Amino acid sequence: MQITVIGTGFVGVVTAAVFASYDNKVIGLDIDEKKISKLKKNLVPFYEPGLEKLLKQQQKSGNLEFTTAYQKGIENSDLVILAVGTPSNPEGGADLTYLLSATKELAPYLKSEAIVAVKSTVPPGTLPKVDKIISQTANVKYYLAAMPEFLKEGSAVEDTIHPDRVVIGARENVVFDRLRELHRPLKCQVIEVSPESAQMAKYAANAYLATRITFINQIADLCEKNGADVEEVIAAISHDRRIGKHYWYPGVGYGGSCFPKDVKELAYYSRQVGEGENLFNKISDLNEERIPRLMKNFGDQLGGWSGKTVAVLGLAFKPHTDDMREAPSLKVIPYLLDQQAKVRGYDPKALSAAKQIFPSDENLSFHDSIDDACQSVDVVLALIEWPEIVDYDYSHVIDQKKEQWLIDARNQLLASQVKGWGFNYIGIGRGEIDEQ
Ligand code: UGA
Repeated sequence: MQITVIGTGFVGVVTAAVFASYDNKVIGLDIDEKKISKLKKNLVPFYEPGLEKLLKQQQKSGNLEFTTAYQKGIENSDLVILAVGTPSNPEGGADLTYLLSATKELAPYLKSEAIVAVKSTVPPGTLPKVDKIISQTANVKYYLAAMPEFLKEGSAVEDTIHPDRVVIGARENVVFDRLRELHRPLKCQVIEVSPESAQMAKYAANAYLATRITFINQIADLCEKNGADVEEVIAAISHDRRIGKHYWYPGVGYGGSCFPKDVKELAYYSRQVGEGENLFNKISDLNEERIPRLMKNFGDQLGGWSGKTVAVLGLAFKPHTDDMREAPSLKVIPYLLDQQAKVRGYDPKALSAAKQIFPSDENLSFHDSIDDACQSVDVVLALIEWPEIVDYDYSHVIDQKKEQWLIDARNQLLASQVKGWGFNYIGIGRGEIDEQ
C-alpha cells in the first residue's frame, strides 16, 4: 500500500517506519524542514530504542522517504495518516489547529478512493470537521477513519510491531477491509467500531490507566498512616484476576505528554457535553497535588530539606526516553531549590534536554554518572526507574561520616539492601518493610 504519514513526532516516525518494514511504500511528511532534513539523514530528534536502526533500514530499502511537499506526499497515497500534535488549549480541550490545517493542505491532492485516517488523539466529533474541510476542495471520492494510537514512549517500536490491539473506527466496510489488510502482518486483534467509539476508546484507555495509578497512590498514602506496606497490599489484591498486578506501581504520579493532557481533555469534554465536574477532574487534581505533598512528607522524615545535598536520579518522565514533558523532575528540582537544598541531577539519556530546560542556578548541577551525582550527598532520590538507577550498587556512595537517606520514589529497590548499605530508607507507602 502507498501510505503517507503526516507529522513526524514519535508516533508519526514510528508508524511510518514500521509500516515501511512490512513492505508498504511510505512517505513521512512534515512542514518542519529541519526535522525532515535530519530524518533523511537517519537522525531521530529524540531517543526511542530501536527507531534509528529501523529508520536506516527502511530508507535504505527505498520503502521509506521523507518530504515537506504536500503534493508529492499525497497525490499517490492510498492511505493518509494524520499524526500531528493535538496539544491542550488553555481551557483544557484538544487544540485541533495543526490537525485541521494539515487537513486543508492535503485535501486538494487526494487520490480517488483514498482513506484519511486520524491517528492523533482527538475527541469524538472531530471527523465531521475533517470531512467539512476536505469536501470543500477535493473532487474525488474519499473515506475517513479514526485509528487511535496506543503505543508507549520508550517501547514505541516494539508496541507498534506487537500491539495488544489495533482499533479502527469507520463507517464503510471497504475502509475496514483495507485497514484490516494493512495490519494483518502484525498478527493482532483488530477491533472494528464507529469513529466515535474509537476516539472514546483512546481517552478511556488513558484515563483508566491514569486512574489506576492515582488509585494505588492513594492506597499507598493510607498505608503510610497505618503501617501497612503497599507492595504487600498489591501482592494480596493482584491474585484477583479482575485486578491483576500489572501497571500498578505507586510513585510520584503520572507524567509524560499523554496522561496529564488526555485526562484533562476528557474532563473538559465532559463539561462541554453537559456532564459537569466528574471523576476525571479529581484524578487530574490529585495527580497535580502529589509531588508537592510527597516532597513535604519526605522532607519531614529527613529533618527538612534546607542545607541538604540531594542527588536526583532520573530526569525524563520515565525510563528509556529523553522526553521531559511533565517529568517529575520539573516539579521536584524547583521544590528542592526553593527549600534551600543543593541538587545534583543525573539521567542516562535526558541530561542535555535537562540542561536546556533548567535555568542555571548555583545550587543545581548535572553529572555524567550516578557515581558522580551521588558524591557527598545527604539524600539519594531515585526518581525514575531506569534499570541503571534501580540496579546500581549504592554502597559506593556511602559516606561513613554523615547520615544519609535513600528515597526510592518507585519502590524498585530492596529496602533491606538499602538499609544494609547504611542508608535510611524511605519508600512510597511502605510500613512494615524489615523484610528478607
Ligand atoms: C501512555 C499509554 O500507556 C499509551 O498506551 C498511550 O498510547 C500513550 O500514553 C499516548 O497516549 O500516546 P506513555 O505516556 O508513553 O504511554 O507512558 P506510560 O508508560 O504509560 O507511563 C505514563 C506515566 O505513568 C509515567 O509517568 C509513568 O511513570 C507513570 N506510571 C506508569 C506509574 O506511575 N505507575 C505505573 O504503574 C505505570
